[in-house]
Amino acid sequence: MKLNKIEFALMNNPLRAFIQRHYEAPLLARLGGSVEGLKALEIGCGRGVGAEILIQRFKVGELVAFDLDPAMIDRARVRLASYIPGKVSVMVGDACAIDATDASFDAVFDFGIIHHIPDWQKAVGEVRRVLKPGGRFFFEEVTRKALSRSAYRKFLVHPEENRFSPVEFISELEKQEIKVDGNYVERWFGDFFIGVGKRL
Ligand SMILES: C[S@@+](CC[C@H](N)C(=O)[O-])C[C@H]1O[C@@H](n2cnc3c(N)ncnc32)[C@H](O)[C@@H]1O
Repeated sequence: MKLNKIEFALMNNPLRAFIQRHYEAPLLARLGGSVEGLKALEIGCGRGVGAEILIQRFKVGELVAFDLDPAMIDRARVRLASYIPGKVSVMVGDACAIDATDASFDAVFDFGIIHHIPDWQKAVGEVRRVLKPGGRFFFEEVTRKALSRSAYRKFLVHPEENRFSPVEFISELEKQEIKVDGNYVERWFGDFFIGVGKRL
């Protein structure tokens, strides 16, 4: 589901970019290792800050990035203009029906989008489908515990049902043959978790 106006503003501000660049990206790199020169996909890319990090810091060889919201994609196209066409493709798309062939990516990145998807297990299945065997899934996610807090309930909009804890999310990944093997960390009193799994 698309963000409401408040979360749209929260995601399109310098603090969000700072956290993504200086906290989430280094942690993901530490947990997941190098993806230099590889073909990567970013689901729910928002305004393209994550994609910029994947190009500049992770040095991916080729990147496809999509988001459900055309307004986000307009912003991402402006931000990533110097890499398009060529290294990067940016498009509107749905993580529950990824427009890519099976086993076509070495790495998939999720910077906090799957908790926005009512049928998130379907999105995990799509991630698995497009990953090559041995490909890695880098994820940063928001838990049921966070979404139940009054500030989240009052100001933001998320699916009411089918939310997840870190253990539930990781169990689903492992059920769908993306092995995490304890390679994740919880942060902010269990509100967020960050990890990397490998497709069998
Ligand atoms: C919390 S924002 C995160 C944006 C960006 N990844 C970041 O970290 O700043 C969640 C994003 O997921 C997108 N989104 C929600 N459901 C989606 C879906 N089914 N497929 C693709 N993108 C989706 C929203 O439009 C939004 O841009």
